[in-house]
Amino acid sequence: MTVTGHTTRAGVMGWPVAHSRSPRLHGYWLALHGIDGAYLPLAVAPDDLADALGALPERGFAGVNLTVPHKEAALASLDTLSETARRIGAVNTVTVGTDGTLAGDNTDAFGFIENIRAGAPTWSAAAGPAVMIGAGGAARAVAVALIDAGVPELRVVNRTRARAETLVAELGGPLAAVDWADRHGALDGATLLVNTTTLGMTGAPPLELDLGALGPGAVVNDIVYAPLETPLLTVARRAGHVAVDGLGMLLHQARPGFAAWFGVEPEVTAELRAFVLDEPGG
Ligand code: ATR
Repeated sequence: MTVTGHTTRAGVMGWPVAHSRSPRLHGYWLALHGIDGAYLPLAVAPDDLADALGALPERGFAGVNLTVPHKEAALASLDTLSETARRIGAVNTVTVGTDGTLAGDNTDAFGFIENIRAGAPTWSAAAGPAVMIGAGGAARAVAVALIDAGVPELRVVNRTRARAETLVAELGGPLAAVDWADRHGALDGATLLVNTTTLGMTGAPPLELDLGALGPGAVVNDIVYAPLETPLLTVARRAGHVAVDGLGMLLHQARPGFAAWFGVEPEVTAELRAFVLDEPGG
């Protein structure tokens, strides 16, 4: 790849950022479509975020993705926010306008629902209750996605009940907080279960959850993708449920940013999945 003065620039701001798979993901699409573009890992310390965002127009950037720990902090440094970003309270995609203004959006909800639709094509939001484990940052995007998809009921189970109650109060809709101790029974008749906690991630303990009360053929999704096959997904698959891993959420959330910056609607394919996974330490 040769970067010239005409090359369209984008990237991901994080701290640290070396582990991010986004440069590999966007780099795949750039090469596939023969675009004169570059997508760079941008290590930005928390104190430098506002300055780094403010410098994007003069540095010739079309936009950036934001990852940990910048998603919430960036809200204050942008000129406009999409309704979705406002509801989720976090930004993961910034686009530089022709007038140099910065527009913030959140495509995690889109990525989540596209991943469910791709992994479980027969799932219908309206068909039954959904259960979400966790009430952190990632949970807000999942909850917004499920409200907008039209779930009749969303049960929010969190170890710290107060956090679940805050999420329920802020987002409104068909949400209800459930005690952590009641999580097994909360699955009664549910057609979708989503784990948004860090439980099940490499190095973390598994999520202790009895899936017995889940409806037959329910969809079980873990938004974690390291490992790809979490203990929860293994148990779900064995019980005959439809298991959907978390990698697709990462891949699909990247689509709107790529389209806005580089002018091509990219596709998520099996080859892309394999390419993104095949990165030692990535
Ligand atoms: P993220 O932005 O990735 O969602 P977060 O905001 O730190 O990260 O949220 C982490 C989620 O995992 C929370 O729902 C957290 O529960 P608490 O609100 O009670 O902290 C949940 N979590 C993390 N470790 C947990 C554990 N050992 N048992 C149960 N829930 C856990």
